[in-house]
Amino acid sequence: MVRLRDSGPVEKVGVSSPMDFFDAVAGRRSIRSYSPVPPPPESLARALEAASSAPSQLNEQPWRFIIVEGEARDRLCSLVAASTRMLRDMFPLFDADSLAFAARFLSDLGGAPTAIVVTYPVAETDHQHKVNLLAAGGAILLLQVALRAEGLGSVCITCAEWVEDAIRSDLGYETERLAAIIPVGFPDGDPGEQPPREDKTVRLREWPS
Ligand SMILES: Cc1cc2nc3c(=O)[nH]c(=O)nc-3n(C[C@H](O)[C@H](O)[C@H](O)COP(=O)(O)O)c2cc1C
Repeated sequence: MVRLRDSGPVEKVGVSSPMDFFDAVAGRRSIRSYSPVPPPPESLARALEAASSAPSQLNEQPWRFIIVEGEARDRLCSLVAASTRMLRDMFPLFDADSLAFAARFLSDLGGAPTAIVVTYPVAETDHQHKVNLLAAGGAILLLQVALRAEGLGSVCITCAEWVEDAIRSDLGYETERLAAIIPVGFPDGDPGEQPPREDKTVRLREWPS
C-alpha cells in the first residue's frame, strides 16, 4: 500500500476489532457525507490489513491501496469533479436533483478526509483482467466491512473511471487500472438501514434441461 502525504507505509496494528462480523456486514452503508475528523491511523491500518487478506488467484494479490490525504486528496477531488460532466450520460434516468447531489458529492467526496484509490494491474487477456478485477473487488468489500467494524464509513466510487487517465497520470501508476475510489471517514449523521435486497439465490438439485 502507498500513503500519499506521509512517507512510509501505514503502521500495522494487530488488535482485533470488537464488532461482530455479521453486524458489520449488515450495518455497512454507502456513506456520502463525512465528518472532517480524520480516521484513526490504527483503524485504517486494521481495515487495510483485512483487505489485504482477501483471496486471489495464485495468491497474486492484484491490488494496490493508495491512501490519499491532505493536498493530494484535494487534487483528487478536483479530478473526480470533472467526471460530473459525464453524469447525465452515465445515469440517464437520474432526475435533476439526483444529478445535482451526485455532482456535489463527487466534487468533494462528501467531505471525506481520506480516500483510498484502489488499482489493479493491466492484464494481457480478458480472463486475467476479470480475475484481477474480481480479486480487487473482493479486497474492496473486505475493506468496506472492516471500516464499518471500526466505526468508519466508506463508499465504492466507480464513476471516476471517466477521468481515470487524468488520475492515473497524476498518481503515476501507468501499468495499473483504477478499480475504485473509496472515500473514508466518520459518517456525518445516521445513514439508516440498508436499502432492501432481492433474493438472488437459486438452488438446484436437478439440472434444468
Ligand atoms: C461496484 C460498485 C460500484 C459503485 N459505484 C458507485 C459510484 O460510482 N458512486 C456512488 O455514489 N456509489 C457507488 N456505489 C455504491 C452503491 O450505490 C451502493 O452500494 C448501493 O446503492 C447500495 O447501498 P448501500 O451500499 O448503502 O447498501 C457502488 C457500489 C459498488 C459495489
